[in-house]
Amino acid sequence: MNGKVVVVVGATGGIGQALVPELAKLGAKLVLASRNLDKLTNLEMTLPPQTPVLIQPTDITDYSQVQALFTAAKAEFGQIDVLVNVAGAGILKQYNKIEPADLDAMLDLNLKGNFYTSQLAAEAMKETKGGHICNVIGILGKHSMAMGSAYCASKFGAVGFSKCMAEELKRFGIKFTLFYFGGIDSPFWDQVSLKVDRSKMLSPATAAQSILFALQAEPQAVPMEINIQPESHLFF
Ligand SMILES: NC(=O)c1ccc[n+]([C@@H]2O[C@H](COP(=O)([O-])OP(=O)(O)OC[C@H]3O[C@@H](n4cnc5c(N)ncnc54)[C@H](OP(=O)(O)O)[C@@H]3O)[C@@H](O)[C@H]2O)c1
Repeated sequence: MNGKVVVVVGATGGIGQALVPELAKLGAKLVLASRNLDKLTNLEMTLPPQTPVLIQPTDITDYSQVQALFTAAKAEFGQIDVLVNVAGAGILKQYNKIEPADLDAMLDLNLKGNFYTSQLAAEAMKETKGGHICNVIGILGKHSMAMGSAYCASKFGAVGFSKCMAEELKRFGIKFTLFYFGGIDSPFWDQVSLKVDRSKMLSPATAAQSILFALQAEPQAVPMEINIQPESHLFF
């Protein structure tokens, strides 16, 4: 990862905050994005002072802000080698309690926002004929769950576009890895109304380590899908 330009979208979340310091230790040049500038600044301050970092407040539901993110990243570091998409949120409610605004929120962020970032990262990566896009989907992009209709719709959709893009982009040396994590004890669950036992969930560090595994696999390897579940809640 030394010298690689890594864009982390959702950098200030639970998984992002576990991943970013590890990327810094490995010598990556970091582009950190999410909506809240204060949180981005706080995260930047935790990194060793010599770390090359660009922080760029971005709402990925707004296509023009995603364009601005990649324009700024290329202006700062010249190219994009890696995109890690860990921005997302969950609305988990019974199907008939899902308001149109809930469905829009899920599709705008988890599906369309991550589509925009993958699409624009890939355009930059094509210029250097290589790159790696890590899309953190979650197990509800593969399995159904009661209360998950809107969330699963967004996540199954994210799997769909990622696999299509992977087909189109493999001839440019651009790899995709999709991550199907089960519950991770992160601020994601602060906004969710379902009762869950966070003590049995995976740690953000486990998610971060698996992303690092995919990014550091030998060059000829393509870790296409990584599925990690907590022992208490296995999906087969
Ligand atoms: N936690 C779990 O159990 C779990 C399991 C499987 C998959 N996942 C997936 O993993 C991803 C991250 O999860 P997490 O646990 O790290 O969640 P988290 O702690 O809630 O972090 C979410 C991140 O996304 C950012 N974000 C939210 N809306 C955004 C927007 N419109 N534009 C840009 N950034 C935005 C947040 O920052 P701001 O609010 O400042 O923008 C934050 O940095 C999500 O896609 C989630 O679906 C989570």
